[in-house]
Amino acid sequence: MPAMPLLTGPKIRPMTEKDIDQLLIIEVASFSAPWTREHFVAELDAQYSFPYVAAADDVVVGYLCMMSLFEEAQILDIAVAPDQRGRGIARLLMDHAISVAREKGAELLSLEVRASNIAAINLYERSGFVRTGLRQKYYENREDAVLMEKRLLDKCC
Ligand SMILES: CC(C)(COP(=O)(O)OP(=O)(O)OC[C@H]1O[C@@H](n2cnc3c(N)ncnc32)[C@H](O)[C@@H]1OP(=O)(O)O)[C@@H](O)C(=O)NCCC(=O)NCCS
Repeated sequence: MPAMPLLTGPKIRPMTEKDIDQLLIIEVASFSAPWTREHFVAELDAQYSFPYVAAADDVVVGYLCMMSLFEEAQILDIAVAPDQRGRGIARLLMDHAISVAREKGAELLSLEVRASNIAAINLYERSGFVRTGLRQKYYENREDAVLMEKRLLDKCC
């Protein structure tokens, strides 16, 4: 992927179908088993899914897919363009996910992450998530999944 110039002040907005070409490039660069276009289209269509992008000047630099149903919300996918990482964009997306989940009335926000994904685990701990369990050999390469959650009724953090 060609290097993108540093962008100032990306804003979070709902994902649209027009964003998918750009975010697929980030998805493929970020995951060994990336989601396909159909996954993202399904997220846009699903009643209880809430997909967002972080974008500056129509350039998508990150995105987040989450679902929220009754008292439980879940982070399904989050990634930031490789050349835009380390600038707080994922933190912005996580703060947004937490406020959306609260708005929808969720009491718990949960996720699962590869045990080797230290950057993501740090991000989630920074956002107030705690480890609640381990699913052994959960991923296609038999890597463990760390289960994490944040209780949303604690208003402090
Ligand atoms: C994980 C990811 C989303 C972080 O995005 P980012 O925009 O670079 O993250 P931020 O700049 O907002 O950093 C927020 C926190 O994450 C943690 N973090 C981010 N990158 C890190 C790294 N390379 N190493 C260790 N911790 C890291 C830090 O705790 C950081 O807070 P701090 O800077 O105050 O210490 C990004 O690396 C990514 O897209 N990875 C590939 C996709 C992925 O793994 N998604 C998660 C799937 S579960």
